[in-house]
Amino acid sequence: MNLNHIPVLLNESISGLNIKTNGIYIDGTVGGGGHSFFIAQKIFSGEKSKLICIDRDEFALSIAKKKLKPFEKKIIFVHDNFCNIKKIAEENKICGVDGILLDLGVSSFQLDDVKRGFSYIKNARLDMRMDRNQKFTAFDLVNKSDIKKLGFIIKTYGEEKFYKQIANNICRATKIKSIETTLELAEIIKSAIPKKFHGKGNPAKKTFQAIRIAVNNEIEILEQTLKDCVNLLNKDGRLCVISFHSLEDRIVKNIFREFSTGCTCPKDFPICVCKKKAVCEIINKKPICAEKNEIDINSRAHSAKLRIIKKI
Ligand SMILES: C[S@@+](CC[C@H](N)C(=O)[O-])C[C@H]1O[C@@H](n2cnc3c(N)ncnc32)[C@H](O)[C@@H]1O
Repeated sequence: MNLNHIPVLLNESISGLNIKTNGIYIDGTVGGGGHSFFIAQKIFSGEKSKLICIDRDEFALSIAKKKLKPFEKKIIFVHDNFCNIKKIAEENKICGVDGILLDLGVSSFQLDDVKRGFSYIKNARLDMRMDRNQKFTAFDLVNKSDIKKLGFIIKTYGEEKFYKQIANNICRATKIKSIETTLELAEIIKSAIPKKFHGKGNPAKKTFQAIRIAVNNEIEILEQTLKDCVNLLNKDGRLCVISFHSLEDRIVKNIFREFSTGCTCPKDFPICVCKKKAVCEIINKKPICAEKNEIDINSRAHSAKLRIIKKI
């Protein structure tokens, strides 16, 4: 296992956090600890500094603990979902933080571990859970959902135009016998898409992404989490969010806009009646994307988008 992997948009997100030596920081998605390593380095000498590292995957936390061993005195590791960030801060007697990083989605450690059942290329039991204590798996979703629900998931989270045919083929197959493995599912998806649309990538890619997002409830929790993050920030505190999916990026963009918009009264009103005040300032109007040299060494960076907001 390579503990020296380079995290996505590393320089951009670390400089986006504008780290203070004595600050308190939360990495809501510590993964392999790549970003946190650089945060920890910057706050290392601060007497009052603290870093909370959260991940819903216990295995990710075990990797991060190894990577972050030199800084362990400053770090609190938490196995939880970042949607509980408010409760996690309270439990650790923290009422305000100077920066929060969310690097959304799955890690390469998770994707590369065949047994976790994320791969459409290598065979494993259908699983796709980030938190292996969760009961609901991709097997349950694929075999127990009706055609309407499957179609919705594949269309919305996968942006797959053949969602109807795929949902139809999955339901037809599960009427005969359960779909047990990733490769069985990948074959069924492939058979639902006309050959001329198979294109360059694997035809199962979008559907697998959709199923993973649904199994881990990745979209539903995002909006409230972002609101809780902004509420936790101290004045001048920063929230950096890296997303990999247009639906996620849209949610981040809209929430950031909502927090940075002041009075919404019509222009011809003599005085403000809405009393709305901006609580944040958007640091980058357009999302920051990876440079070509980063994409060349890490293809996952291709779809990464970083948005940064500052509490005022
Ligand atoms: C893209 S990786 C993060 C990589 C990390 N920044 C690094 O430098 O190694 C995303 C990580 O976030 C975790 N994760 C995703 N959604 C989460 C959630 N809702 N709560 C907590 N952890 C989550 C995943 O388990 C995964 O380990």
